[in-house]
Amino acid sequence: MNIKASAPGKLLLFGEHAVVYGYPCIVTTVSPRVYVEVEKNSGPLKIEAPQVKDTIFVEEAIKHFCEKYKVDNKILIKTFSNFSSKFGLGSSSAVTVATIKALSKFYGIETSKKEIFDLGYKVIRTIQKVGSGFDIASAIYGKTIYYVSGGQIIETLSVKDLSLVIGYSGIKADTASIVKNLEFRIHNSESEYKKIFSKIGKIVEEAKISLVNSDWKKTGELMNQNHKLLQELGVSTEKLDNMCFSAVSAGAYGAKLSGAGGGDCMIALTPKNKIKNVESAIINAGGEIINAKINV
Ligand code: MEV
Repeated sequence: MNIKASAPGKLLLFGEHAVVYGYPCIVTTVSPRVYVEVEKNSGPLKIEAPQVKDTIFVEEAIKHFCEKYKVDNKILIKTFSNFSSKFGLGSSSAVTVATIKALSKFYGIETSKKEIFDLGYKVIRTIQKVGSGFDIASAIYGKTIYYVSGGQIIETLSVKDLSLVIGYSGIKADTASIVKNLEFRIHNSESEYKKIFSKIGKIVEEAKISLVNSDWKKTGELMNQNHKLLQELGVSTEKLDNMCFSAVSAGAYGAKLSGAGGGDCMIALTPKNKIKNVESAIINAGGEIINAKINV
């Protein structure tokens, strides 16, 4: 018997980095997904994962699952993805969650969302050593969520008609090393960084309200402010800054980098009638447009 499960990618709307230090963030899902298939294998565990980066997440997820639920691992696992892991859209967390969901189905073990979260978060922490787990929660709960590190709060927000343009900077960022580098810098001037995190935390609280109220002008302003604070944290790049600046000049309500920074993607909250202009502006600034549905 062949069992399938899948999980979506994600985009951070507000609160990256500060979420690692106990502040909330807001994350939404994107339409590209990772799919995992499990079938019985007569021999030992076999993994066919074309996305090399994902294999370790699949291996760890299987190991943790089999240990926790005391099942064998004589299985063949195949993974498929309709997005590249280079974009920073959460393919590692999606493949982790999809693997756990597929194994639960395959072994007929009922797992709650919270149980999947705890297991998935363990996998991510084992491999990356750092991380708030927001991406795992997003892949499990879907839609747009307000999240506090370690899954202390996971609250679904009713957000409608979120119109985002996603621009890829062309540079693959390494989240774990950016987070560790920031941690190192924080040791030298803790109070300064704490002030920035606290400001980001306030922006997230305001955005939680403006998003639910579909107040796009306010949400855009908050995105610009959040991006400025990420610049102050030293995680943005000239390319991301240019892409954000160009998007706002072309009519976006606001724009910011999304994720750890250092590359990967930026997002621009854009009125529907300005989407073409904003996309062209991002391309002219050297970015690549990623076509994906949001908040799915
Ligand atoms: C990376 O996409 C977001 C960070 O906040 C790290 C994390 O929360 O795990 C930088």
